[in-house]
Amino acid sequence: MQDLSSTEVYSLSVLSIACIAILVNAWKSDGEPLFASLAISGAAFSFTYAVIRWTGDVFIKRGYKGKDLSKKSPVELPEAMGLISALVYLLAVVNFLPFAFKRDIVEATSGGGNKDRVLEAGMDDTGRFLHRFPLEKLASYGFAYGTLATTTILGILDDSFDMRWRHKFFIPAFAALPMLGLYFVDFGVTHVVVPLPLRPYLGELIDLGGFYYLYMAAIAIFCPNCINILAGVNGIEVGQSLVIALLLLLNDFLYVSPWMHQPHPATDSHLFSIYLLLPFVGVSLALLTHNWFPAKVFVGDTYCYFAGMVFAVVGILGHFSKTLMLLFIPQIFNFLYSAPQLFKVVPCPRHRLPRFNARTGLLEPSVATFSEEKPLRPVVGEVLKVLHELRMLRVETNEKGRVTQCSNFTILNLWLVCRGPLREDRLATEILVMQTLCGLLGLWMRHSLALLLFTQDNRF
Ligand code: UD1
Ligand code: MG
Repeated sequence: MQDLSSTEVYSLSVLSIACIAILVNAWKSDGEPLFASLAISGAAFSFTYAVIRWTGDVFIKRGYKGKDLSKKSPVELPEAMGLISALVYLLAVVNFLPFAFKRDIVEATSGGGNKDRVLEAGMDDTGRFLHRFPLEKLASYGFAYGTLATTTILGILDDSFDMRWRHKFFIPAFAALPMLGLYFVDFGVTHVVVPLPLRPYLGELIDLGGFYYLYMAAIAIFCPNCINILAGVNGIEVGQSLVIALLLLLNDFLYVSPWMHQPHPATDSHLFSIYLLLPFVGVSLALLTHNWFPAKVFVGDTYCYFAGMVFAVVGILGHFSKTLMLLFIPQIFNFLYSAPQLFKVVPCPRHRLPRFNARTGLLEPSVATFSEEKPLRPVVGEVLKVLHELRMLRVETNEKGRVTQCSNFTILNLWLVCRGPLREDRLATEILVMQTLCGLLGLWMRHSLALLLFTQDNRF
């Protein structure tokens, strides 16, 4: 990989120095968590950007490499570089904690700044007033960190051993255990609000009990995996993650904005979400600059799992998991559409990414082929033909009318079936624009249309 150019060194240095200056000022005045988080995210961007450049060749030497399958002469690129983003992110979160809790530490001690408002007689014997420290808030960060660190470790395992899909599918469930444990001891609410039309039968609230934990585990499994299967085009894994993160930040802003009636009961949850998402945006932007078409690095399953788990963590510990799902509409569609191949009703090749046509330089739908020895079940073939008529699939048949091949069941291939061949970056851009529109629609539904089903929007 190329060394950093002098312009890059200059820009990254200026950004880092500005961020450090903001951090120093924030520390002088009560921590200022929001400014500190922004500055740490800027520094995380610079650091990730530089480290990806410095270590790309080392990854290749160690065997972490992959061929870019959609290029005329496929070169080997560093694989699993999302590891750098994940590690810098974990570092950024830890470094943010002193800023998040400075106010509480100062209030509870006679420490610097002499703001010992809570200082009382007896303090000499008992030392710091640690019992006043909001440990339950710190716990959320701690368990989020534990879950994300475990996810990263398991992601590296996957990238190192190229695990089978049916094995790695459940990896995130193990990583999510610390977070679900915290939910159990700290929050433990397993009631859900019943939509208005169902209230005469079910009442206002319904207790899902253990099923609520299964639901959260399902979210923790779904988010990472659905990002990993909407993949294979330069920039799409990081791009879709950035879109989700920015939409979540927009939703958080609706709760913490100065125009909202403050203090709102959900402010703390949404600040928690903001503080976890800002550094995520920083490290992901740095990765995207290297992964966008034409890619210089691949992000690896480590990044897909890590990104998905960041969303699961903020959704579950921030108590807005249903809103979170509204921002995953394309991924949910892709998962449902993929189901026939994921569950082996239709054979699933190792790679389902779109096929590169070297003559035109454009991407076309990739296909799964069915041989005479391993034919498709006739009834499945008939369903595929109906999907073909509906332009939901591209199917080819032989002279006997038997289905010999069909386009792979991913939203990327479906997009190409509908739109015709596209250049790689054009496909990625169109999918991201569609995802942004779906996400905005989801948020609108959440805050406006939901009033038809529930008595009020919880922003008010
Ligand atoms: C998932 C998909 C698989 C898709 C792959 C592409 C399912 C069940 N699995 O598998 O169909 O082909 O992601 O990421 O849906 N690559 C490119 N260009 C890119 C990104 C990746 O050519 O922009 C290739 C590279 O050779 C890279 C490899 O894909 O090394 C990475 O594949 P990997 O992430 O290991 O695949 P899976 O996550 O197992
Ligand atoms: Mg992958």
